[in-house]
Amino acid sequence: MNIELEVSMEIAACIFDMDGVIVDTARFHFKAWQRLADSMGIPFTEAQNEQLKGVSRVDSLDRILQWGNLVLGNNKKIELMNLKNKWYLEYVEEVNPSDMLPGVPQFLAELTEKGIKIGLGSSSRNSVLILELLGITSKFDTIIDGTKIHLSKPNPEVFLRGAKELRFEPSACVVFEDAISGVEAARAGGFPCIGVGDSTILSMANAVVPDMQGMSVQRMTEILH
Ligand code: G6P
Ligand code: MG
Repeated sequence: MNIELEVSMEIAACIFDMDGVIVDTARFHFKAWQRLADSMGIPFTEAQNEQLKGVSRVDSLDRILQWGNLVLGNNKKIELMNLKNKWYLEYVEEVNPSDMLPGVPQFLAELTEKGIKIGLGSSSRNSVLILELLGITSKFDTIIDGTKIHLSKPNPEVFLRGAKELRFEPSACVVFEDAISGVEAARAGGFPCIGVGDSTILSMANAVVPDMQGMSVQRMTEILH
């Protein structure tokens, strides 16, 4: 049996986080949270932002308020989340297919060609909009986003729902993640996980690549075995 056949039998699907894996929108989330934190006089660093990656909008706000020792009522919190999202939507307005991170279009095309299913596992409630702006919605066999889950990463719900919809066991679905919370979620759900970014930050992943450039079925298989 040749390697490729063995691989496609073993890896049935890939489930992608979106922000920071498929498209460089993580910097816009950072910019919008930073603007919000600034407006409240709360210091907010890039290291703190690492802890927000993959985390839902409401949980992110709660963490920022905690860092600033601020306790606010629900109405005020909703107002702040709406403001953050308004800024975020302004920043992403111009996102287009050329904003896909290098290596992603080729990898998605190869997966489709080889019959490996493609899922999205993102905490973002803006996922559908971003995938539309990138023109890749139809590439996904399932899209699980922040509107469909109850528990934010590091809970594995988003990936478990994806695997269930694709009708595969977690062990047959490789998760691609740039967030600490996302890697934790994948591992907690029993998924093999490729971290995308800094290997010291994403040390819980089974393997880490600096970015998606050159990602292929062969490379994915090699680094996971
Ligand atoms: C992703 C991003 C987070 C973001 C979360 C919610 O997981 O990594 O930075 O806070 O989605 O996004 P949303 O678009 O719903 O505010
Ligand atoms: Mg991400």
